[in-house]
Amino acid sequence: MSSVIFGGTAAYHLRLDEHTPVGERRIVTTPYGDSAPFVWLPAVEAWFSSRHGEGQLQRSAAFVNHRANIWAARELGAASILSWNGVGAIAPGLAVGQAIVPDDVLDMTRARVHSPPPSQDIPFTFDPDLRARLVEACAALNIPCATHGTYVCTEGPRLETAAEIAMYGWGGAAVVGMTLVPEVWLAAEMGIPYASLCIITNMATGRWHLDPRRDFGPGVGVKGLQVMLAALRV
Ligand code: HPA
Repeated sequence: MSSVIFGGTAAYHLRLDEHTPVGERRIVTTPYGDSAPFVWLPAVEAWFSSRHGEGQLQRSAAFVNHRANIWAARELGAASILSWNGVGAIAPGLAVGQAIVPDDVLDMTRARVHSPPPSQDIPFTFDPDLRARLVEACAALNIPCATHGTYVCTEGPRLETAAEIAMYGWGGAAVVGMTLVPEVWLAAEMGIPYASLCIITNMATGRWHLDPRRDFGPGVGVKGLQVMLAALRV
């Protein structure tokens, strides 16, 4: 049974073959247009796809064709999906560079196309086994990792205002990003277990006085890929 890895922030900087052997490359034709390219990683029996493009940042979060990509994941026989997502930190105690494996989602997107529509009666959960694998992989790689927290997904492409972040914080969100929705709903709809590794690239708006760094550099992609490879080898 193969897996799919969706690479997020800085995946477009990666030279995959510097980290693991690579095989076939596929673009899948779907009812929603062509998927992003998928590259076979034989060492972990997984297809890897960079959400934001290859070689450079080609499309920001709001313009990712999640419907085509998740359709392709199913066509490629994915029994599970792991992804990494760059995020801003909202909850106290979270630092730039550390990871968090979210256990819930607050969907504040407005204009994303959800098709097929999320089922009305399926409660969404991240897969517990995949979450545990990500947490264990972080521990093995000495990457500080928070084991719980809510991810709020915003529409983008603009950054959130300080007032919005304050509201999401009151609502219980630990981190903010733009990429998990509708990817997670579509995976659930197709019955594919899913878990995400969030890598904190910056403090969310209004919290920059705590740490002004913004790290979207190649190291984020390397960290994400290393955790995915370790998680799938467990
Ligand atoms: N906001 C939204 N998405 C993000 C952020 C942020 O601060 N950092 C990384 N992705």
